[in-house]
Amino acid sequence: MERTFIMVKPDGVQRGLVGEIISRFEKRGFKLVGLKLMQISRELAETHYGEHKGKPFFEGLVNFITSGPVVAMVWEGKEVIATAREMMGATNPLKALPGTIRGTYGIDVGRNVIHGSDSPESAAREIALFFKEEELLSYEKTL
Ligand code: CMP
Repeated sequence: MERTFIMVKPDGVQRGLVGEIISRFEKRGFKLVGLKLMQISRELAETHYGEHKGKPFFEGLVNFITSGPVVAMVWEGKEVIATAREMMGATNPLKALPGTIRGTYGIDVGRNVIHGSDSPESAAREIALFFKEEELLSYEKTL
């Protein structure tokens, strides 16, 4: 089953949007298999956002993502990577469709509330960066 890495950024945590974001993924039928509240080190931030190194916004991005607690998560389900991207909306909230997470709560391209992996390769890399194998749980829903 496919897995993706989702992170509520410092602005989302500070504004009390963690529950709302988790709820949207739960209601969509995805399964939470990993979850942690953490403050990202500079080193981890620079590795996670390595593909943006050298871009004009890189320093600001690293400063922002290390500025307060984030909630790192792994969600599992059919086509969860692409579906999560649709649920999040465009990177720039000003371009994100109404009803998407960024289209509803995002302020600007920096303070855009949430990060999600953009491909299976990114998902594998980001999950391994933030979680140890034993921190990802395997369970069946018992309803
Ligand atoms: P994210 O999905 O976390 O991946 C890279 C992040 O860089 C992106 O969301 C934005 O929050 C951030 N960013 C800041 N400035 C820019 C910019 N000018 N263009 C693209 N991304 C930006």
